[in-house]
Amino acid sequence: MPTLRVLRSVPELRGALHEQRSAGQRIGFVPTMGALHAGHASLVERARALSDCVVVSIFVNPLQFGPKEDLAQYPRTPDADIALLETSGCRFLFMPAVEEIYPQGFFTTVHMPGMTEVLCGRSRPGHFDGVLTVVLKLLNMVQPDVACFGRKDFQQALLIRRMVRDLNLPVQIEVCPTLREADGLAMSSRNRYLSAPERAVAIGLRAALLQMDRAFRAGQRDAATLTEFGRTRIAAEPRFRLDYLEVRDAQDLSQRCGSVQTGDVVAVAAFLGSARLIDNALLGMETAP
Ligand code: PAJ
Repeated sequence: MPTLRVLRSVPELRGALHEQRSAGQRIGFVPTMGALHAGHASLVERARALSDCVVVSIFVNPLQFGPKEDLAQYPRTPDADIALLETSGCRFLFMPAVEEIYPQGFFTTVHMPGMTEVLCGRSRPGHFDGVLTVVLKLLNMVQPDVACFGRKDFQQALLIRRMVRDLNLPVQIEVCPTLREADGLAMSSRNRYLSAPERAVAIGLRAALLQMDRAFRAGQRDAATLTEFGRTRIAAEPRFRLDYLEVRDAQDLSQRCGSVQTGDVVAVAAFLGSARLIDNALLGMETAP
C-alpha cells in the first residue's frame, strides 16, 4: 500500500501532482466532506481502478450549507478519516482550511438555473450553486483525469456532469453505486445524527422506494399512483417528516406527470429527528435491499 500524504495548501497539492503527472500517472479524484464511511471508500476503490494515483479531498464546504443548516454540527472525524484512507490505497489527502479555498475577497460562483431549483434545490436554496462552485474549484486544483461521485446524491452527480459538459472541463465523471447498510439504509455521514429508535425506522425510506419499484414492475405506470404508494409507506412511520418524494426523468429531472418509464428516478428526502436523509431508485432497475 502506498503511504498517504496529507496536503493542506494548493501549491503543495499542485507540486505533488505535477510530479505524478510528469511520471505519466493518471490522476483519480474523490471529493468529500469527510466523516468517511464505506460508501466513500467504494469511490476510492473505483478511482483506483480507473487511475494510477488517487487524491481524496476533505473539505466541509460552507458555501453549500444554508444559514439554518448543520455546518457547525457537521461531523468532523479527521483521525478516523486518515486511518480509513491509509488502508484504502489513496496517495494524497487534500485537507485545506476554509481560507485556502475561499480567501478574502473571493467573489466568483457557479450558478446553474433550472435543474438546481428542484428536489433538494427547492428545499435548500443556493445549495447546488455552493456544491458546483467548490467542485469546479477542486477540479481546477487537482486537474484529475477522472473524478468519482456517488449516485446516492443523484441530483448532485447529474448537475456535476452537466457543469463538466457545459464548461468543457477535461475530466471524466464516474458515477458509482450507492453503498448500503445490511438493512438497505444508504450510508451517509449524516446517519450519525440518528438516535437508536430513529435508526430502527430509517429503513422506511428505502422500503418506500422498493415498494414503488415493485408496483412499477407489476405494471403500474401512473406517476401520481406510484408516488402515493411511496408517500403512504413513509407516512406509516410518524417520525418521518417528508420533504419530497417525486418521480422525474433521470436525464434532465423534468417532472413525470402522467406515465413513468423504466429508468426514471424516484428521489426522496425526509427529516428523521435532526437528520435529513435522501435516497433514490431507478424504476425497474433496483435490486433489494
Ligand atoms: P459527501 O457527502 O462527503 O460525499 C462525497 C461523495 O461520496 C459524493 O460523491 C457522494 O455521493 C458519495 N457518497 C455518499 N454516500 C455514499 C454511499 N452510501 N455510497 C456511495 N457513495 C456515496 O457530496 C459531498 O460530500 C459534497 O457535496 C461534495 C461533492 C464533496 C462537494 O462539497
